[in-house]
Amino acid sequence: MDIKARIEFLRNELNRHNDLYYKEAMPEISDYDYDRMMKELQTLENENPEYYDVSSPSMRVGNDINKTFNQVKHRYPMLSLGNTYTEAEVSEFIDRCEDLLQESIQVCAELKYDGTSISLTYIDGKLMRAVTRGDGEKGDDVTDNVRTIRSVPLQLSGDYPKEFEMRGEILLPWKEFDRLNKEREMQEEPLFANPRNAAAGTLKLQNSRIVSSRRLEAILYYMLGEKLPSDSHYQNLEIANQWGFNTGKHCRLCNSKEDVLEFIRYWDVERKNLPVATDGIVLKVDSISQQEELGYTAKSPRWAIAFKFQAEQAESTLRTVSFHVGRTGIVTPVANLDPVQLSGTIVKRASLYNEDAINMLDLHIGDKCFVEKGGEIIPKIVGVNMAARTENIGPKVTFIKNCPECGTPLQRIEGEAAYFCPNENGCEPQIKGRIEHFVSRKAMNIDGVGPETIDAFFSNGLIRNIGDLYKLTKEQIISCPRSKGKIAESQSLFLELDSTKKQRDTKGFFTTLLANKILNALHKSTEIPFERVLFALGIRFVGETVAKRLANHFKNIDEIIVADYDSLVQVDDVGERIARSVIEFFANEENRQIVDTLKNAHLQFSLSEESISNQTSKLKGLNIVISGTFEKHSREEYKQMIELNGGKNTGSISAKTNYILAGENMGPAKLEKAAKLNIQILNENEFLKMIE
Ligand code: IVH
Repeated sequence: MDIKARIEFLRNELNRHNDLYYKEAMPEISDYDYDRMMKELQTLENENPEYYDVSSPSMRVGNDINKTFNQVKHRYPMLSLGNTYTEAEVSEFIDRCEDLLQESIQVCAELKYDGTSISLTYIDGKLMRAVTRGDGEKGDDVTDNVRTIRSVPLQLSGDYPKEFEMRGEILLPWKEFDRLNKEREMQEEPLFANPRNAAAGTLKLQNSRIVSSRRLEAILYYMLGEKLPSDSHYQNLEIANQWGFNTGKHCRLCNSKEDVLEFIRYWDVERKNLPVATDGIVLKVDSISQQEELGYTAKSPRWAIAFKFQAEQAESTLRTVSFHVGRTGIVTPVANLDPVQLSGTIVKRASLYNEDAINMLDLHIGDKCFVEKGGEIIPKIVGVNMAARTENIGPKVTFIKNCPECGTPLQRIEGEAAYFCPNENGCEPQIKGRIEHFVSRKAMNIDGVGPETIDAFFSNGLIRNIGDLYKLTKEQIISCPRSKGKIAESQSLFLELDSTKKQRDTKGFFTTLLANKILNALHKSTEIPFERVLFALGIRFVGETVAKRLANHFKNIDEIIVADYDSLVQVDDVGERIARSVIEFFANEENRQIVDTLKNAHLQFSLSEESISNQTSKLKGLNIVISGTFEKHSREEYKQMIELNGGKNTGSISAKTNYILAGENMGPAKLEKAAKLNIQILNENEFLKMIE
């Protein structure tokens, strides 16, 4: 077989299918077949490095190399836009431009996409560099990450200039944003506040393979270069579209103020139906020569302006207030509203925070409430339309006194406005929540057991706690009916599971295949190291890091079970709150029994011989910051070395920092700070010597 020809064939096919999927929305092959072709291409490319090509579709998959980003100076600074909020200001902008130019203008009206801006450099039709806005003068080189974005062309087609830049916005579509946050909610990871933060955060991830899985989109709205194809900005975008860029579908070339205002009014409403977030309209003088004549102020062009939409608010009637109990027993009040459209999604529920917030609003059932979806993910009630309140308004909303799930009297957390249910081992959502945490990816990573499965096992009496998972038999699993879809309500407060999934789970039993998968995953989890098992137990306030510290310090569970307050607070990162929580956890007879069950199932309850023998206390008490890129080991490996030798890897430089382990490209700001605080900088070799 001619390898070169095969590689070329696969590249062409993958590019074609990518376009069919992303540009035409008409895929011809399944994701599975696409992935298979991609795997074949990757294998061939790995085995035949002489055919390496930066534009190969395999670049879209990303890689596992962790890297910090190089700072790159922008060839043309990335400016911001002046803001306007009223139609009168828009009209003034047009008048001002025409006055300055002494001639009439055409205005290109576009959507203002609410993501994170990017500058792409193309040389000879190939994507060579992608840089974030940064401070406008210089930004981070995120090329590897941007190459994974399917709507960014790696190779252009047509008659493009030899070298030019395209600027635009990187966006995480609402659907992806919701999916990502749902996943993070399940994993108990902090949620992204909005798609803009999620997109910016994703673009700065160190691992491009994760970026690839997040399905970012790019919309390009500005071409820069010495030789542009046309004097019309609008036409340049159309041409760029033919070269392969996604330039958005919603530009309009306006010949009058009325055209502009019509565009604004139309999108003020219609934008709610767009798949991505927008926060306004951008108006640009269309002629490039007129743009040049108008020029720039210090911060922004005189030839463009942004019209910002009003913060999104909607009004809806409060029907009921429900109280949800989370994994840790905290009770959250939630307003159930008549469904209403708000920033691209239908809102049915909104946060009421806590008792104090409810009292402040003087909320009554039947009230017309103002709902906002500002920067936050979860819509919130910001006020009540008092003018709309009638005499026969419903009862005043009050906070409940007993747990809505198990009836136990609620307790108020000291010094806070929050209530919790203290019945941790008898309250259904708390039990199920703890099991979900136990099986989650970062804990025991038990594939095939998700919230639905836990719900099914629980409601059929197969499991009452995490220990019961290891007593399950194949027969029990395959004769267990699957859940009735109740799960969406109890597990996820605001992010609804999609309805098709709910329906699928209302019928049928577990297949033998699935039962085997679950049993295998449980069996495999007996290899998970002690520190993760400790984290998986779900002891309040014991997160991944603290679990690691406790495991390294005490070496096995029995030492932790008998540890008293004084010995617990000796451990790095363990304070009063955590120490008390650990003691309380193991004082509970049921929890100790669960640990026994898990021991019998052969889970790891002590550090492995290997990690004990690797441990030293050479770096005991030292705070070390890692910065830059390294040659001998990866960042993650250095982090582990620090921890294994009793040191602490901290994120940012402070007066407490003892050393900085610095590789290539340590940022100038950090260097300056280190010098100011008189902190010693170690290179790789010096560090490795320290732990020899
Ligand atoms: S043009 C010199 N067009 O808004 C003008 N910007 O404050 C360059 N943005 O940082 C920007 N949609 O990230 C332009 N259709 C659009 C836009 C847009 C969103 C962002 C961009 C910029 C900010 C302006």
